[in-house]
Amino acid sequence: MQFHYAADAAKVESDILVLPVFESDNPLKPYPFADKLNAVKGDIKGKAGETLLLPSGGAVAAARVVVLGLGKQESVSEKAVGEALAACFRSPAVNAYKLKHVAVDLSAVIKLKGIKTESLGRWCAEAAILGSYQFDVLITKADKKKERAEKVTLAGGNKEKLQRGVSYGEVTAIYTAHARDLVNEPSNRINPATLAKFAQDMAKAVPGLKCTILKKPEIEKLKMGAFLGVNAGSDIPAHLIVLEWQGGKKGDAPIAYVGKGLCFDSGGYDLKPAAGMLGMKMDMAGGAATICTLGAIGKLKLKVNAVGVVPATENLINGSAFHPGSVLTSMSGQTIEIGNTDAEGRLILCDALTYTQREFKPKYIVDMATLTGAQVVALGNKITGLMSNDDKLAARLDEAFKAVGENCWRLPLPDFYDKQLDSPIADMVNIGGNPGTVTAGLFLQRFIDKGQKWAHLDIAGPAMHEGEAWGLWNSKSATGTPVRPLVEFAEQNG
Ligand code: BES
Ligand code: MN
Ligand code: ZN
Repeated sequence: MQFHYAADAAKVESDILVLPVFESDNPLKPYPFADKLNAVKGDIKGKAGETLLLPSGGAVAAARVVVLGLGKQESVSEKAVGEALAACFRSPAVNAYKLKHVAVDLSAVIKLKGIKTESLGRWCAEAAILGSYQFDVLITKADKKKERAEKVTLAGGNKEKLQRGVSYGEVTAIYTAHARDLVNEPSNRINPATLAKFAQDMAKAVPGLKCTILKKPEIEKLKMGAFLGVNAGSDIPAHLIVLEWQGGKKGDAPIAYVGKGLCFDSGGYDLKPAAGMLGMKMDMAGGAATICTLGAIGKLKLKVNAVGVVPATENLINGSAFHPGSVLTSMSGQTIEIGNTDAEGRLILCDALTYTQREFKPKYIVDMATLTGAQVVALGNKITGLMSNDDKLAARLDEAFKAVGENCWRLPLPDFYDKQLDSPIADMVNIGGNPGTVTAGLFLQRFIDKGQKWAHLDIAGPAMHEGEAWGLWNSKSATGTPVRPLVEFAEQNG
């Protein structure tokens, strides 16, 4: 998708011109060519979510016009414009007619108090790219594929400022789309080896981004017994993917992101029922987000030191698989009794957390994982569960989510629930009962060194958006969260 700029939207010879309007008696009033448009008086109210497609009839150079309602003028934000625009790129108005060139008249929006042109440019790029997203590499029939606009012209704003925002938004959107692809890809195509290959290829395309893949013998040497325990039932050996970006001062402690790269979760011997197993290709969403966040940080050349660590394996069954009741020795030395082989995410993460702390001594460590079904029960599809041992870090993550229009909600990590993880025969057991999301967080906390600032994001629900399209998220598709929030966090906290 190519972005272009123009002073006067009316003169852009596009296939369709998007006209944002606000709720009022005469929503088209801000546009000088409004009288020449053949809209029936009263049809356009300007309510949020309203769209109306009109043939332009020569009123403007574009062949068609789509009126895009944004609601009350006072409540219009860059995010509101972006989300309405994403809906527009998703909609039949752009898709069904195979429209290749979309123009957007930003002149009325830019005049509003509080609207920043650069931020608007960023939202427009993210909306156009992510709104047109479809995972279609496995669809062979051309007519079943979404037609994507190839050219987007933003009109009526300061070109330099818009362009700065667009360049940033293109990166965050493209890397979010990469994360979506990895999660949408079935597990016969994205497995621990091919995920590692993706990270390597991605890093090769970003100057200065370093990617190291630790293979099974090295993982054994590191004594990652919990990670290897989960991997034992799979024919594909475990891979530990490590990405490093040095954009800050040499020697400054990095921000570390750690993501669960569980390429398929059958549950192991505590086998999932069919309905629960279907869809478990998405269990590497945290890993995908970690890899793509590092890619975006490098591509944007952020002035920050950052690392990404992804333990990648499948959780399957064979004669070597770990058993319910097995006891594993983690890299930290702590022993773990297996109360349930389906609580495998925390097992691969605890070793990755130990590795990351020892290897990189990070300033902050933020892990992300599709860790518990209980997160979906508690917060659903649209809110990520945030847990942390540090109030300031939790607040900063919350800010980063909000800044990009996504949501997280903090859950507590109280001592009294931690006791539920005690085992009579080992240092701990890998299941702690209710509340499931919190006890999983408490399990991970047992692997965090004293003084280490740490946060855990449970994205079990938000990783895969099942419901209707929402914001920049499309229906029945991976969301790529939390790439955008974590690029923002790195930008703000480097
Ligand atoms: N990958 C699942 C969590 C999950 C469930 C993600 C639904 C997305 C949608 C995780 O490995 C798992 O199986 N967790 C168990 C833990 C339990 C055995 C303590 C769960 O949540 O049921
Ligand atoms: Mn599981
Ligand atoms: Zn899992």
